[in-house]
Amino acid sequence: MYSLLRGHWLYLFLICVWLAPRVCSSWWYMGALGTRVICDNIPGLVSRQRQLCHKHPDTMQSIGDGAKEWIAECQHQFRHHRWNCNTLDRDHTLFGRVMLRSSREAAFVYAISSAGVVFAITRACSQGELSSCSCDPQKKGTSKDNKGTFNWGGCSDNIDYGISFAKAFVDAKEKKGKDARALMNLHNNRAGRKAVKRFLKLECKCHGVSGSCTLRTCWLAMADLQKTGDYLRRKYNGAIQVIMNQDGTGFTVANKNFKKPTKNDLVYFENSPDYCVMDKEAGSLGTAGRVCNRTSRGMDGCEVMCCGRGYDTSRVMRVTKCECKFHWCCVVRCKECHEMTDVHTCKAPKNADWLDHT
Ligand SMILES: *[C@@H]1O[C@H](CO)[C@@H](O)[C@H](O)[C@H]1NC(C)=O
Repeated sequence: MYSLLRGHWLYLFLICVWLAPRVCSSWWYMGALGTRVICDNIPGLVSRQRQLCHKHPDTMQSIGDGAKEWIAECQHQFRHHRWNCNTLDRDHTLFGRVMLRSSREAAFVYAISSAGVVFAITRACSQGELSSCSCDPQKKGTSKDNKGTFNWGGCSDNIDYGISFAKAFVDAKEKKGKDARALMNLHNNRAGRKAVKRFLKLECKCHGVSGSCTLRTCWLAMADLQKTGDYLRRKYNGAIQVIMNQDGTGFTVANKNFKKPTKNDLVYFENSPDYCVMDKEAGSLGTAGRVCNRTSRGMDGCEVMCCGRGYDTSRVMRVTKCECKFHWCCVVRCKECHEMTDVHTCKAPKNADWLDHT
């Protein structure tokens, strides 16, 4: 029996997002299906992905677990923005129609999700959770620090395996379509994979007499996914708008004044909507009801967030710990304090069109 099925809705969603946003309506029946032949029951998998799924059910599980992390990272990066990487509980496509467009936001989601798969698989390899890989004993090197030169070659994170599996699995769908969208997705998927590799760092453990560190074991380890998230977020800010070549094999910069994209840059075709109002076709949920900051002049400020529509203010009670005292020995006891704070939320547009959709 595949352990795969254990509540991994996210994984199922994920497959939908990448692979079959238009044919995902059957997803909700997955829970009712048996545990057999799950790979065959995932609609929208191309045959290559189905093969991989059959061959590596344990890896599919890691990908599913990893999805929670990259989605959380995406939402963290965009928490102060009109588009906040929100997932739609009742929408099988997870991000709504954003993913059907070729906007800057789609570019980011493809990159972070692809990075998330690399991260999850690589970590699972190192933790011995996968039958097809382990940590990478091949990586060896010489480094130098204030205590002198030393050799290292402990068990490193097997990022090359993570990258090649992610590439095979995630990119498989795009290979089918040779259209502009496929080209864009492949580019951003690769940028995401490469981003994880940037943040490998040497970690060491000292041995020797009372931590003298005359002997040490070192290995290359991945940094937190947040490092990759921060980096891709900067790449999102500098994402480059492109158009397809005449011969359909690559991109040209849409505006000749901008630099050509490198493999590390995110690329997109379409301008984004302003995300102010609900427009499902454009992939926008609108900002009605979003919490904003009255004093901020940034993206999270009520002026920007609410697109000039104004905001409602409500007083809410916050319970916090306070007047904490240390008691001998050894507990800290606190009181519960109640304080009133104002919470501001964006008003809906006047011609409350979005109400029809809720
Ligand atoms: C609101 O924005 C101001 C100015 O940027 C900041 O100092 C404050 O901490 C923010 N408040 C909240 C609740 O985030």
